Amino acid sequence: MRSRIGVLASGGGSNLQALLDHGAALGERRAGDVVLVVASGPRAGALERARAHGIATAVLEDHDDAAALGAALDAAGVDLVVLAGYLKLVPAPVVARYAGRMLNVHPALLPAFGGPGMYGGRVHDAVLRSGARVSGATVHFVDEAYDRGAIVAQWPVPVRPDDSAASLATRVLRAEHALLPRVVQALAAGRVALGPDGRARYASSPPELDFTLTPDAAALAAGVERFYLS
Ligand code: GRF
Repeated sequence: MRSRIGVLASGGGSNLQALLDHGAALGERRAGDVVLVVASGPRAGALERARAHGIATAVLEDHDDAAALGAALDAAGVDLVVLAGYLKLVPAPVVARYAGRMLNVHPALLPAFGGPGMYGGRVHDAVLRSGARVSGATVHFVDEAYDRGAIVAQWPVPVRPDDSAASLATRVLRAEHALLPRVVQALAAGRVALGPDGRARYASSPPELDFTLTPDAAALAAGVERFYLS
């Protein structure tokens, strides 16, 4: 029985698209299917991507409305929630209900460069201003605060001397597109979970998540920067 995934989005939906493409590539091996896309506004490009795949959609007029969000997730029988470029804080009752079953992707290596107001270009501006030589993507469990939940996986991306916020954002976004779908499938398959100590733990060392340490043709094909931790 595959997990039923609900995706929350605010923007163009490239992370949603990466989830859909990875699920299609896995075919019968996939452990979860996206069954609902909830957008924080009617103009989110993610809605169009969902409709193109025949996936149910909803628009959350009031992102603080826990009852409305909970009802939309219930109606679609959602087991697992993924924030894919979602810019609002999820109401605490919904976060509590999906503890250990809600993931977010952030375009930096948390706990650095995260928290309220740290999204989009602001993140990459802060990374460049800091002089950091490595940025990357983080997937973490969601708790009641922005970008604070237990980290599940990260992928490093080099910061180049001539980087602008836009050029760095482009490379980090490709890392997000490689990382998020693999973590979502691992959670859906029960290969990663939120432990009683509040940290992510792996039932086994899932090969998909080892790709940060071993060459992965699929990830390389995705054009993700390889940063050799030599
Ligand atoms: C991107 O900046 C990404 O880094 C962050 O959300 C933004 C929009 O992503 N996770 P998407 O293209 O809407 O998935």
